Amino acid sequence: MMKNMRIPSLARPLGAMTAALLLAAGAAHAAEPISPIVAVKVTNAAKVDLGKKLFFDPRLSRSGFISCNSCHNLSMGGSDNITSSIGDRWQKGPINSPTVLNSSLNLAQFWDGRAKDLKEQAGGPIANPGEMAFTHDLAVDLLRSIPQYVTEFKAVFGHDKLSIDEVTAAIAAFEETLVTPNARFDKWLQGDKTAINAQELRGYELFKSSGCIACHNGPNVGGASFQKMGLIEPYKTTNTAEGRFAVTKQDIDRFYFKVPTLRNVELTYPYFHDGAADTLAQAVDTMGRLQLGRKFSEAEIADVVAFLQTLTGDQPRVVLPILPPSSDKTKRPQPFD
Ligand code: HEC
Ligand code: HEC
Repeated sequence: MMKNMRIPSLARPLGAMTAALLLAAGAAHAAEPISPIVAVKVTNAAKVDLGKKLFFDPRLSRSGFISCNSCHNLSMGGSDNITSSIGDRWQKGPINSPTVLNSSLNLAQFWDGRAKDLKEQAGGPIANPGEMAFTHDLAVDLLRSIPQYVTEFKAVFGHDKLSIDEVTAAIAAFEETLVTPNARFDKWLQGDKTAINAQELRGYELFKSSGCIACHNGPNVGGASFQKMGLIEPYKTTNTAEGRFAVTKQDIDRFYFKVPTLRNVELTYPYFHDGAADTLAQAVDTMGRLQLGRKFSEAEIADVVAFLQTLTGDQPRVVLPILPPSSDKTKRPQPFD
């Protein structure tokens, strides 16, 4: 895999790099280093449905007010559109909230990849004092006090055990359905040459020829490797996150972040781990200078932005779940304590 692929120098002929990517891309769309998003087939509708309820249930937070959807708003591209998230007691989060859309396609979860998959990730925010500020035990006790949840967990998992394991498995099953097929760019990849216009195509050609594609490739146009932010020129930020270094403790991994997906990127502003770039034009200009040592003209930036906007796919159609009511036994939230 390209997991720890490093790009020591972009002086390396791009042709060879692209060829390697093409080999990795597989036969179906071998001509291009980006492949279409495939719609998911739901095999366990009851599990997905339960996971959806949990994703929207603010009772999994200390305040009774914050749900996964608070920071990964499915009406806003699965993100919160603010520089860094607001958690329990209006705390400022340490980092920008990445989208949950297509996150099942990423090689790992979080900016530094510290969770290996969605199930492992889902346990994090519930117990994170800066996010939902609950504990796994309190979350499980709460769900056990709600008869309809008890019935649903039993129906889905076939046993009475209701632990954090079942909770995170159900949430992950729901998240796996949050993919966004049918982007105009995917239609173009699949042979509809009218799906994108001349400017968008120019943007894509520049995206490839200038070297963006070396890091942003595959079905998720990213998400496949950890790369240094500030490869050619250092990135200036007051944010203290050091990326992959936090996981490996190896100096070489400092400021290596998971390459974010560029799917639906027009919806997931602001950009970068510190949320410092408000607009796509700003993000493209920064990437060009810092990652490629290249100053794009305004027209070139407009072309790349136009291309990036063709990556917006069908947003998941989520009917708001009606959550089962608390019972007399359910512990009431204490939002202001
Ligand atoms: C208070 C805001 C907040 C809440 C609530 C929250 N998240 Fe997050 N989420 C974030 C932030 C911020 C990150 C990035 C953290 C990092 O990388 O260190 C993140 C990362 C993620 C990721 C990783 C995506 C990727 O590409 O790396 C997933 C998946 C995710 N959250 C799902 C959830 C689920 C499921 C819940 C509910 C159980 C939840 N989040 C609750 C803010 C939040
Ligand atoms: C050497 C690898 C590399 C190259 C080359 C590269 N990127 Fe990135 N890109 C990254 C990484 C890593 C991040 C996350 C940086 C951060 O948040 O600190 C990123 C972030 C982004 C973002 C913000 C996404 C978000 O959700 O926050 C955009 C947009 C983007 N890149 C576009 C481009 C474009 C356009 C090019 C070519 C001009 C390019 N990138 C070249 C690695 C790369």
